[in-house]
This record gives sequence, structure tokens and C-alpha cells, in this order.
Amino acid sequence: MRVFVWSACFALAAAAIALLTFPPSESTGDGTPLADITMPVLSATAEKGAILFDRSCASCHGAEAAGRDGVAPPLIHKIYEPSHHGDESFQIAVARGVRAHHWPFGDMPPVDGLSREDVAKIVAFVREVQRANGIN
Ligand code: HEC
Repeated sequence: MRVFVWSACFALAAAAIALLTFPPSESTGDGTPLADITMPVLSATAEKGAILFDRSCASCHGAEAAGRDGVAPPLIHKIYEPSHHGDESFQIAVARGVRAHHWPFGDMPPVDGLSREDVAKIVAFVREVQRANGIN
């Protein structure tokens, strides 16, 4: 009996580790969201940013910046917290594009048609959603 309990525990732990290591949603490469997002009530500025994000970024980064598997990463992710990717890194990403370095999704091309003020609104949106998801 004791042996049975231990092997059951072991099997459960192995299954949990397998799930943590290979989350089902992270290997499909088909555009499924890569993060589970809680949407906060947005400030007026962030609302404007959300509209711009929807228009210029969501095709790759996904609705709610949750990422799209095989396309682009979630910006609601610890990698993009303010101390690692400050607001200026968003300005540079939009103006010059990004060479792939954190993810296996290829380069991000520069995005046309957005002023620095527009990008600042997008950043306000991303930061508010980050905070609502425990990323500070
Ligand atoms: C054509 C697809 C595409 C579009 C459109 C796009 N991105 Fe990206 N973006 C990517 C990919 C892919 C990466 C990941 C690069 C890597 O591997 O680090 C990325 C990375 C980033 C990064 C991280 C930059 C860094 O320094 O590591 C930021 C910030 C970003 N995107 C913001 C935006 C914003 C804001 C928009 C809309 C104005 C946008 N992206 C539109 C594909 C895209």
C-alpha cells in the first residue's frame, strides 16, 4: 500500500513537471495566446493606447498583448517589466524594429504611422495591463 501511494505521488509529480516544462499552449505555433491576461479598468490615456495597439501591434502581439504562438511574444511578461524593458525600448522597437533575441519568432519590423506620443499611449496601456497582472 505504502509503495502504491509513493508511486502515485511520483506519477503526479512527474505529470506536473511535464506540464510546467511543456505547457500545451506553448508549442502549437498557431497563434494561440501565450499568456492568461486579467484586463484592468484602463485610464483614458491607456484606452487610447489600447486602440492604437489593436490597430498596429495586435496582429502579431495578440489581443490584450497576450502574444501569439509562433508569431510574437506576450508583452504582458516579466521580460518586459519596466526595469528590464523601459519605456524607451518600446519607442526604439517601433521606430527601428527588433532583431529576434528573446524568442524564436523572428525579427519585428519597424512599425510606420505612429508618433512618439502614440507610442507613449501604447506604453501606458501595456504598463497598466502589466501591473494588473503582477508585473511591475
Ligand atoms: C510583424 C509582427 C510584429 C508587429 C506588427 C509588432 N511586433 Fe513587437 N515584436 C515582434 C517580435 C517577433 C518580437 C520579439 C523579438 C525577440 O525575439 O526578442 C517583438 C518584440 C517587441 C518588443 C521587445 C523589444 C526588445 O527590446 O526586446 C517590444 C517593446 C515590442 N515588440 C512592441 C511592439 C509594439 C508597441 C508594436 C506596435 C506598435 C509591435 N511591437 C508590433 C513582432 C511584432
